Amino acid sequence: MNEPSVQNLLSQALSGQASEIPPVWLMRQAGRYLPEYREVRAKVGGFLDLCLNPKLAAQVTLQPIQRFGFDAAILFSDILIIPHALGRSVRFETGAGPQLDPLDVPEKVREVGTKFDQGKLAPIYETVGLVKSSLPSGVALIGFCGAPWTVATYIIAGRGTPDQTPARLFAYRHPAEFARLVGTLIDASVEYLTGQLRAGADAVQIFDTWAGVLPPDEFQRWCVEPTRKIIAALREEMPRTKVIGFPRGARAGLARYVETTGINAVGLDWMIGLDQAREIQRSKPVQGNLDPLALRAGGAALDRSVDAIMAALSGGPFVFNLGHGILPDTPIAHVEQMLKRVRG
Ligand code: CP3
Repeated sequence: MNEPSVQNLLSQALSGQASEIPPVWLMRQAGRYLPEYREVRAKVGGFLDLCLNPKLAAQVTLQPIQRFGFDAAILFSDILIIPHALGRSVRFETGAGPQLDPLDVPEKVREVGTKFDQGKLAPIYETVGLVKSSLPSGVALIGFCGAPWTVATYIIAGRGTPDQTPARLFAYRHPAEFARLVGTLIDASVEYLTGQLRAGADAVQIFDTWAGVLPPDEFQRWCVEPTRKIIAALREEMPRTKVIGFPRGARAGLARYVETTGINAVGLDWMIGLDQAREIQRSKPVQGNLDPLALRAGGAALDRSVDAIMAALSGGPFVFNLGHGILPDTPIAHVEQMLKRVRG
């Protein structure tokens, strides 16, 4: 059983302890803004080939640690590995984002659960093990998955859409089939996160990137409940499992998500005001929430944004991060500027 180490700043923050300087990592910190990533990426055919190649995926996971000295590494993979293991065809075409075969016929949605091939996830666990054995001490390793709702939006639509109309419509028209799909994704996510924790992840993050498009009842049903079930199942086997939830755009539903899912910490998107963030921090550690565009812009705007976040949140349990993933055209010098500012 994996006992999360408290020898690192991230685990301390997730346990509710404040530190003089907060741990820092960035969502999507391994990626196209790094020349060393682009070099590795150019050597492999498809993006999935990189995710499923443990040696290269471990190398890419470690790149931002080696360059910047972040306090946590996040496993290099993608949330669409689960649809891949469920037998959906998943392709990444340059500039076009992910493409899956859309799945909008209820009869076909019913079949998804029958095709889960856990063997397809084995290379990911191998990556976790490789990274774990080469991380400097004091640096935490974060595993992750997409939340069932967010992963379902890609499975139904077959691509990213601005407001997830295909999945929202499908869930209204065919609630039983949609519930079944979400159930399949809950089970697969539990299996997948358990595998990552067993292989050495210190904590896991659940990315619910599309939580913000749902009205309150649907948010409760398709985001809060599935996340709560995943976390409860993880803790049955590993009671001390640390989970960060990232319900992007949740706003009105955020408090309920924080109270009822069982997360240890909440990742806040950049639209959450710092007063609300402080209020949430009274009951849970918070992570975030620098606007990725402030990091992209750099200069005085970046300094001002970092200072405001630090002033509001660094007195309590806190993990410094972005409010969403780093943008591919972010200059490296801006990341260095941000780190210096946070670490004083
Ligand atoms: O954080 C990290 O550094 C770890 C790796 C990671 C990736 N994707 C690598 C990736 C993580 C944590 C993700 C999560 C992910 N993937 C999410 C949730 C977080 C978020 O950003 O909203 C989502 C919605 C996806 C699905 C996905 N994967 C999309 C929409 C895209 C295309 C857009 C884009 O950013 O390119 C991807 C591709 C992807 N995932 C890339 C990387 C580095 C770029 C592909 C490439 O290098 O060719």
